[in-house]
Amino acid sequence: MLGSKRILLIIGGGIAAYKALDLIRRLREQGATVTPVLTRAGAEFVTPLSASALAGHKVFSELFDLTDEAEMGHIELSRSADLIVVAPATADLMAKMAGGRADDLASTLLLATDTPVLVAPAMNVRMWLHAATQRNVATLCADGIMLVGPNEGDMACGEHGPGRMAEVQEIVAGVVTALADGPLSGQRILVTSGPTHEPIDPVRYIANRSSGVQGTAIARALAALGAEVVFVTGPASVPPPGGVEVVRVETAREMLAAVEAALPVAAAVFAAAVADWHVAGASDRKLKKATGGLANLEFAENPDILARVAGLKKGRPRLVVGFAAETEDVIANATAKRLRKGCDWIVANDVSPATGIMGGGENAVTLITGEGPETWPRMGKAAVAERLAERLAAALA
Ligand code: CTP
Repeated sequence: MLGSKRILLIIGGGIAAYKALDLIRRLREQGATVTPVLTRAGAEFVTPLSASALAGHKVFSELFDLTDEAEMGHIELSRSADLIVVAPATADLMAKMAGGRADDLASTLLLATDTPVLVAPAMNVRMWLHAATQRNVATLCADGIMLVGPNEGDMACGEHGPGRMAEVQEIVAGVVTALADGPLSGQRILVTSGPTHEPIDPVRYIANRSSGVQGTAIARALAALGAEVVFVTGPASVPPPGGVEVVRVETAREMLAAVEAALPVAAAVFAAAVADWHVAGASDRKLKKATGGLANLEFAENPDILARVAGLKKGRPRLVVGFAAETEDVIANATAKRLRKGCDWIVANDVSPATGIMGGGENAVTLITGEGPETWPRMGKAAVAERLAERLAAALA
């Protein structure tokens, strides 16, 4: 699947570095060429000899290694790959990347490169949750760096929580997604997904039952056809696909800002279940029962992200796809919604509780285009996503 793809694998210093050796093997099994780069800390955990033996390739580690410079300069090294993978990516290495530092070979390669970068963070849970790391993660995502993981679980340090490096097969899947070739290669496509959370006060919010499963599957299916996917997601209950650009948001207004920042794109799929309203003047203090706070909430309308993008005079995506989650008169409501919102297609579905679709594994879709409604059989959300991705590829061809 990765035949002839060249991967530069930067191995940071962390206990998860031992998994990088298995990663080399699995990537090579898929046909990729792997060039390992060890940071100084990485070399404390795995030896250059084991990395080079598994990769069947010289290991690079020092910036000022004259032999390497004679053979291949660090600029050339940084650009000779189809993808740079950083696994494990430590908090320190991510901070360097976010800050644009270049004080060793790994950070210099990451600053000098013009190839896509996929990062697999691995660190202690407190380090991952620290505001500084989260700021750096947001910066890296905004810079277009792709993330896979981290996962939640028991950590080598004895603590439990997010920070464990993604499993090797998840990183390989992220690499395959990031490098997929297909009919959508070279096309940048935006996907919104998940619910939004609209704060009432610092501890309460208004949300909906969207799981983000359908939007996530669509992003994965588009990437599998070669698209460069920007995935703008609210707080979903499933992890985003590895190998796509992920922008995490909470509110509808944040989602709009992230969508506008992602433009221009060839196509945009609005699968998010966006709250129509937010609480006007949400309190920055917890509302107390005694003051009767919750009884007097005032609402203000959220921006309609789909309608805004569909109505753009300049820079409108060639194909704008909305969703219509309806509980009655699905086709009539969705057909009217398509016209009202000005989008090209509407993916309509019946989300009345009896269908089990909202939050479930299956979907029963009617695709409404300019030509009218087309009802698809009930199928798994991944199958819906694949079918929709193929339709998009045909429409953009
Ligand atoms: N949508 C959006 N921004 C909003 C609301 C909805 O981008 N503020 C998008 C959704 O992602 C979806 C489509 O619009 O693609 C339809 O969402 P839906 O909630 O069904 O539409 P509404 O206009 O809110 O209609 P309704 O009155 O049925 O809630």
